[in-house]
Amino acid sequence: MSKVVIQAPASSANLGSGFDTMGLALSLYNTVELEECDRLVVTDADHSGVPLDESNLVYQTVKQVYQQCGRSLPGLSITQKSPIPQARGLGSSSACIAAGIVGANRLLGSPLSAQEMLEFACSIEGHPDNVAPAMLGGYVTSVMEGGKVYTLKRRVDSQLEFVAFIPDFPLLTAKARAALPAQVSHKDAVYNVSRAAMMAAAFCEGRSDLFWLGAQDRLHQPYRIELIPGASQLLQQLPGMGALAVFISGAGPTMLAVIKAENTAFLAGAEALLRQDEQLRHFKAVRLSAHNESMV
Ligand code: HSE
Repeated sequence: MSKVVIQAPASSANLGSGFDTMGLALSLYNTVELEECDRLVVTDADHSGVPLDESNLVYQTVKQVYQQCGRSLPGLSITQKSPIPQARGLGSSSACIAAGIVGANRLLGSPLSAQEMLEFACSIEGHPDNVAPAMLGGYVTSVMEGGKVYTLKRRVDSQLEFVAFIPDFPLLTAKARAALPAQVSHKDAVYNVSRAAMMAAAFCEGRSDLFWLGAQDRLHQPYRIELIPGASQLLQQLPGMGALAVFISGAGPTMLAVIKAENTAFLAGAEALLRQDEQLRHFKAVRLSAHNESMV
């Protein structure tokens, strides 16, 4: 195939308690056009600052797929629109990886299965909680075991919506992971197992009244919250405005609130809160829906 156009969604990993395992896809999309050519040409169509050289993540990913399939890649024309903000905990890297793999697979005539593409993506990213929902859509629970990736997807009810509180500063995942302890207590592990199990069951049973409980976490949020000025305040104040759950999106610094779609006043209330409080002015509130369609 000569030219392919791929859209890949944003994603929010962890959902509080499901560190490195749960995630969901959101209605914000990077678009990538790919065409084989005799050299590398990257066009940053929306001036989002993606690298224009060989360090470009879409290019790196496409190159790896070609290698895996035993095909040479003389050059590539990549045109990217990347509204998913980078280093904000909304899965921008995973969107690039997903788009690169799905796009390369189409250029090559679809030699890889959906499962192979998923496992390839997880091997690049190192953990599945962003790439699995980016590729499969919906709410996804994933486990990596013995080189395989096991996923269960559930479509997210249209009665649920999300408000992302996106700060004006980046937080690299490497820094947010470096803040985590090497070991946790048995008590904290039990705390998280019980909450993550509750979150998964609440999603499947439509028990959004239990999301607040399922989102509670002791494995990463207590260590990362200090890296995100104003985050503690959002955790405290947004439930009183109708948020069903509030948690750090992925490694942060975005905070994600889950709301009922019928709560039409939430966004305006949140924007007023951000305007009024100097400690919160660096956040921008963006209302999003779930994205339930699969790319593979
Ligand atoms: N589960 C990952 C983390 C998501 O929290 O570090 C970000 O890649």
